[in-house]
Amino acid sequence: MSFKIGDIVIKHNIVVAPMAGVTTPEYMKICEAMDAGYAVSELISAEAVVRNNEKTLNMLKGIEKLKMPVAIQIFGANPTTMAKAARKLVDLYHIKMIDINMGCPVPKVALKNGAGSALLRDPEKAGEIVRSVVQAVTVPVTVKIRSGWDNEHINAVLIAKYVKKRGRKRLPFTLELALKVIVVKPIGKLLKKLLKMCIFPLLVMAM
Ligand SMILES: Cc1cc2nc3c(=O)[nH]c(=O)nc-3n(C[C@H](O)[C@H](O)[C@H](O)COP(=O)(O)O)c2cc1C
Repeated sequence: MSFKIGDIVIKHNIVVAPMAGVTTPEYMKICEAMDAGYAVSELISAEAVVRNNEKTLNMLKGIEKLKMPVAIQIFGANPTTMAKAARKLVDLYHIKMIDINMGCPVPKVALKNGAGSALLRDPEKAGEIVRSVVQAVTVPVTVKIRSGWDNEHINAVLIAKYVKKRGRKRLPFTLELALKVIVVKPIGKLLKKLLKMCIFPLLVMAM
């Protein structure tokens, strides 16, 4: 079944997840040959992009040659840096979408940098990052979140409200439900609430 993210038509719902060390341009090329709907790159540091870090930019080499719709996923905690990185990546690689990582729990991203899933603890900042990035680029922006920071803080609906408010209508978002927070009944309720409030496509992973 085809669906749209902004103006981009995704021909079906078999899509390639962002995976650090896996979803490289070479891997995406293989997925493209296997008819994937679209792909999201592994997470890329916005700070490193803005600083022109050669190693980071090399991770994306060849991504511009892919024909299927591709998003580059960025992570960071500073709205201005995230916006600058998003614009630079769109200009450099002519990619069709930017994906903001608000789901990564690894200490290097979440604890050291206050990025990734740490943003779920600060909905105001999460919203600010979305606003900055959406204003910086003309391509659709997606946001990947978790259902919450941990079992005691399942706040995906609140985050989605901030994302919706700050991202305006052209912002779709994707939701990742982390395995550690799967408790069948609340997750079902959470999804119902999210679906009710969504004005954009919702991709649910890790069910
Ligand atoms: C090795 C590995 C690396 C991952 N790296 C990222 C990443 O860079 N960004 C991200 O948003 N999610 C990342 N994820 C999460 C996946 O995108 C996906 O949401 C998760 O694996 C759940 O989907 P599944 O049930 O199909 O495995 C990673 C997962 C794995 C297994």
